[in-house]
Amino acid sequence: METNELSHIFERIGSHHASRRLELQTIHSAIRSGPTGLHISFENLDRVGPLLKALLKISGLWNRAVRNSLNYEIVEHPVRLQNLPPTFQGFRILHLSDLHLEGIADGGTALHRVISQIDYDLCVITGDFRLLTYGDYQHTLTCLAPLVKHIQCTHGIIGILGNHDFLEMVPGIETLGIRMLLNEAVPIQRGAETIWIAGVDDAHWYEVADLTKALQAVPKQDPIARILLAHSPEIIEEAALADIDLYLCGHSHGGQICMPGGTPIIVNSRCGREYAAGSWRHHHMQGYTTRGVGTSLLPVRLSCRPEIVVHHLFATT
Ligand SMILES: [Fe+2]
Repeated sequence: METNELSHIFERIGSHHASRRLELQTIHSAIRSGPTGLHISFENLDRVGPLLKALLKISGLWNRAVRNSLNYEIVEHPVRLQNLPPTFQGFRILHLSDLHLEGIADGGTALHRVISQIDYDLCVITGDFRLLTYGDYQHTLTCLAPLVKHIQCTHGIIGILGNHDFLEMVPGIETLGIRMLLNEAVPIQRGAETIWIAGVDDAHWYEVADLTKALQAVPKQDPIARILLAHSPEIIEEAALADIDLYLCGHSHGGQICMPGGTPIIVNSRCGREYAAGSWRHHHMQGYTTRGVGTSLLPVRLSCRPEIVVHHLFATT
């Protein structure tokens, strides 16, 4: 990352946020799962991957599990919002998450083909562009470039960082045409009417989500539709109190390796399992936790298909 790009990021998000993230990234890169007070995440335990691979091979499930990781399910999800302006009736949001791009078994061929067949007005990506949680990210950006070319919509692409992503990736991601929200918000306009998309930085590992800051630019008066992008479903209490109408997130992978019938073994989130996958409601706030596109550790899924969601917005009647 160039020095002027780093100073621009500091200026944009403030030194407190930037310093904290960079410091934790450095600590994390150095020891990954050491005794630093950081959470120890499943995806950072080095021995889990080889052990899981051996188990899948011995049990004869490996080939099926790899094929499953490319068997994308397109989910059409209707959302009824009280404050939706009339011109946004039927507005479609393509929701991608947890791309973990370098780990996709076929290099992205099937994903590009599936995305090319979908119609939508806006695309949002709720974090985890990178496979690993440390090290090189240039390969991630190389894999992201062709995906971005396959995402075609009127209102562009908005993204946030996940716990696998580094702050230094932001300039490269934005150069490819994705507007990243780092505790920020942007208006989406149709005619004279507006909805707001706010996006927070990672709450799961780096704990740098600042919803108050993200909503600073959003007008206070009602009615206005507020959609929040968060990597994980771990700030739902705060978001509901802040009058978020729709909370879009990923992170859990829906479990990735599930029991027959789809019950996850691990969801890797500090919140209830009812928020681990699919649509949910918390008080007045609606939410959706996508199972995500990619995989962690290994390119495998069992009883848990990768998911591409299209949220269709409608006004309540
Ligand atoms: Fe992820």
